[in-house]
Amino acid sequence: MTNELKQLIEQQINKEFYSAYFYYGIAEYYRSKGLDGFHAWFEAQAQEEVEHAEKFAEYLHDREISFRLLPIEAPDCTFADLREPLARQVEHEKLVTSLILAIYQQACDDNDILTRSFLQWFVTEQLEEEKTAKELLEQYDLFAKDNATGLYQMNKDLHR
Ligand code: FEO
Repeated sequence: MTNELKQLIEQQINKEFYSAYFYYGIAEYYRSKGLDGFHAWFEAQAQEEVEHAEKFAEYLHDREISFRLLPIEAPDCTFADLREPLARQVEHEKLVTSLILAIYQQACDDNDILTRSFLQWFVTEQLEEEKTAKELLEQYDLFAKDNATGLYQMNKDLHR
């Protein structure tokens, strides 16, 4: 594996942990607002992000490549209203998709077939993550934004 590719994966491990941190922050925000369903939903998202980081770390291990754990940036988890975290999740997942595609492009440039194959799962997963985040925002706008009963129901539905 080229050093460029290894460094991108190392940074991605960091970004996945950052995503987990960000979603834990959102979960805490919703908990502070009394929305336990939204809290549970984002806590589960955070756990999934840790699993993503672990997948990358395991892949480097399987390729016998050592890597560093980089410092995790503190996410900005101050929100103007209940809608903002949902909109920021959509933007964040789009950013993560672009990062995954950049790693994929590097693997193509390097003709690293093993890494291209490994990244397939993440490419599909990102499409799904973007879709889920957009749907959540749409649901909020349709049913909960100006409607306490809708918000109550959505919070109930988000319990896993
Ligand atoms: Fe690891 Fe939500 O992307």
